[in-house]
Amino acid sequence: MSDQASNSAQLLTLTRAARLVGVSRGALQKKIKNGDLPTFEGMVKPEDLMRAYPNTRLEDTSVIEHFAHIKDEAFAHRMRERLLPEPEVLAERLAGLGRELARTKALVERYKTITDWLYDKFNAYEKTGGAEARAIMGPLKLWLRHELEKESGSDDLQSLVVKESFLRLMTAHVRLLPSHREFFVEGSDSILDAALRAGVSLRYGCSNGNCGLCKARVASGKTLPVRHHDYVFSDAEKNQGYVLLCSNTAVSDLEIEAEEIGGARDIPKQEIAARVKKIDRLGDDMALLHLQTPRTKRLQFLAGQSVTLETGNGADAEYPVASCPCDDRNLQFHVRRIPGERLADYVFRKLKNGDIVSLSGPQGDFTLREDSPHSLLFLAHGNGFAPVKSLIEHAMARDTAETLHLYWLAGKDGHYLNNLCRAWADALDNFQYTPLTAEASKAGTALKQVGKDHPDLAGFDVYAAGPAPFLTAVRKFLRDSKFPEDRLVTTRVDG
Ligand code: FES
Repeated sequence: MSDQASNSAQLLTLTRAARLVGVSRGALQKKIKNGDLPTFEGMVKPEDLMRAYPNTRLEDTSVIEHFAHIKDEAFAHRMRERLLPEPEVLAERLAGLGRELARTKALVERYKTITDWLYDKFNAYEKTGGAEARAIMGPLKLWLRHELEKESGSDDLQSLVVKESFLRLMTAHVRLLPSHREFFVEGSDSILDAALRAGVSLRYGCSNGNCGLCKARVASGKTLPVRHHDYVFSDAEKNQGYVLLCSNTAVSDLEIEAEEIGGARDIPKQEIAARVKKIDRLGDDMALLHLQTPRTKRLQFLAGQSVTLETGNGADAEYPVASCPCDDRNLQFHVRRIPGERLADYVFRKLKNGDIVSLSGPQGDFTLREDSPHSLLFLAHGNGFAPVKSLIEHAMARDTAETLHLYWLAGKDGHYLNNLCRAWADALDNFQYTPLTAEASKAGTALKQVGKDHPDLAGFDVYAAGPAPFLTAVRKFLRDSKFPEDRLVTTRVDG
């Protein structure tokens, strides 16, 4: 009884519950929608979670990191050192867990006293109450003993609680108000970095403690500065609990009133001098350009948007960003060599590591509908894969879509990142990848495969990127499938 009481009191957020059993939030939401997992004000009980996922291997200590790990495996470029939280943060969290343990122990003692008292009363009544009392008290005592033993024998439930405590020691959970978006802060990450990594678009500017654009009010919980900042708060702001999200980490679970980016229109135009980090050749005419922005000037953009690049020869051209905002200062572009295209020519012949490439933007509204409840269908042709890749990585970081299915119709350069797509499909249960091949004029025929796999598209939002004829074929295919036009988002990518 005592274990049950302490466990029931500990409700889990969906983000934390998904981590504990190693599934995506989308998968958890599906269980909730199907009535297989009850929720209480958006949270779940550990015992209900165990019932919904009876086969979770809790004895395997890797389960907590399972989902994050496979995502990192799939995003090889995003592998990063997993740092421990600062000693000060760890000490604070340990003290918090210690306090909780003390409270739980006191509660257990109280329950034990009550059950002992009850048992004694049952005994006394059984002895003095005659045949009728014996007939009632005997089974009642048996039931009480059985219930007490049953709960103390639930190893998996206890294991879940232990892992939950470990997770709380290593990470802090953040809930944003009023949106109720959630994410974890790991290691010594700033709250802003953790939010961006989780695909949450917060308002910010310098990311360096100067501009004050990332300031937010801590409604509950404790933060700790991770860097010095020059921005000066007014006394009123200090009293109300304002902090800079770019300069503080989370010591405990937090609730924060923060300004989130509502859409592309909320992002200011920026001009940034980035450096070439690497250029990978993905084929005779396809290059993967890796740029890195300065530490003090990260590009703010939404997944799926484009920027204008300008190289040393004065050539400029617009390219979709092929990475997601969750990838820190790293940006990727798929540059296709096209006769007469000066920027691409320069990338292939002259550009080298360390060179400066100027960025301006972002532009475009090929962005994810963040609050849509639908699964995601991505249709890409050729290097229309670039903005689609950005959206997919963002959706994976957000971890809220039930399923994602990518159809990639090869262009002149084939499926130039086929292995990456296969790695995603291998690593993530809710991601499917179908490479398609067809002559450019036969895109409509290739799209029939989508109809075969998904005769009913009602549960999807569709994102399509590629040259104009491909987009025309997509529109026709969806019209024929009676798909609502307002759930299709497109962007034209030539080349
Ligand atoms: S983003 Fe400028 S102070 Fe935080």
